Amino acid sequence: MEIIIKPTVAEAQQETAKIMRRQIQRKPETVLGLATGSTPIGVYSLLVGMHEKGELDFSKVSTFNLDEYVGLDAKHPWSYRAFMEAHLFGKVNIEKSRIHFPDGMATDIPAHCANYEADIRRAGGIDLQLLGIGREGHIGFNEPSSSLASRTRIKTLTPQTVKDNARFFGGEELVPRHVITMGVGTIMETRHCLLLATGEGKAEAVARMAEGAITADLPASILQMHPVCTLVVDAAAAKELKRCEYYHWVYDNKPDWQRV
Ligand code: F6R
Repeated sequence: MEIIIKPTVAEAQQETAKIMRRQIQRKPETVLGLATGSTPIGVYSLLVGMHEKGELDFSKVSTFNLDEYVGLDAKHPWSYRAFMEAHLFGKVNIEKSRIHFPDGMATDIPAHCANYEADIRRAGGIDLQLLGIGREGHIGFNEPSSSLASRTRIKTLTPQTVKDNARFFGGEELVPRHVITMGVGTIMETRHCLLLATGEGKAEAVARMAEGAITADLPASILQMHPVCTLVVDAAAAKELKRCEYYHWVYDNKPDWQRV
């Protein structure tokens, strides 16, 4: 795992956006896996800026989002689909037909999840998956105790995630209890995982994920087994990492051709 520590949130977001820009510039028909939540908002805004400057063309890009709340339709203002429309899709030249999302209103959820997996395969697999991390170590909404081989399916949120996401809904009681999420196994099949974590609240999960034992108790820890995983953190989220000096050393000595 490559661990990049940037002093500020803004610099961590910039590094992440640059990695995504490089991917799309190298392969215009890139298949992106995308995350929602507070963490990627700044990254999406940087990507929109790059698009406006003519540096990024999304016309051939396809996307698959990680997750959606069960019971919210795409037009619901709190749905993740609406979130993506507001922060990215509505602001760049992405083709609507290339946007893929779990359907929170699916009547046959298992069949819908199997189709989502099939759509990912048909698109040729995900080239670059943007991830955030929950305080308890979830990726997507694969909460602690999720099978590390899981596929896209329905999951029940933990009380901590409900609490953390209440800010988007205006109260814990309004947060749906269920989500459809790509599985840990689904995420592990993507060619490059790019996880951005910022703020002190993520420090413990980040340290356990990168330096702790691989365990379903912290699903993100499986990323230690991913052949191409980049973790970008700001100084606050890096606070509990033991080998910070070494990670800085590796970054500072990176060959030029590996830099973004
Ligand atoms: C959302 C997702 C989640 C979030 C995580 C962190 O699509 O996949 O795993 O990345 O809950 O959320 P924030 O960024 O709001 O702290």
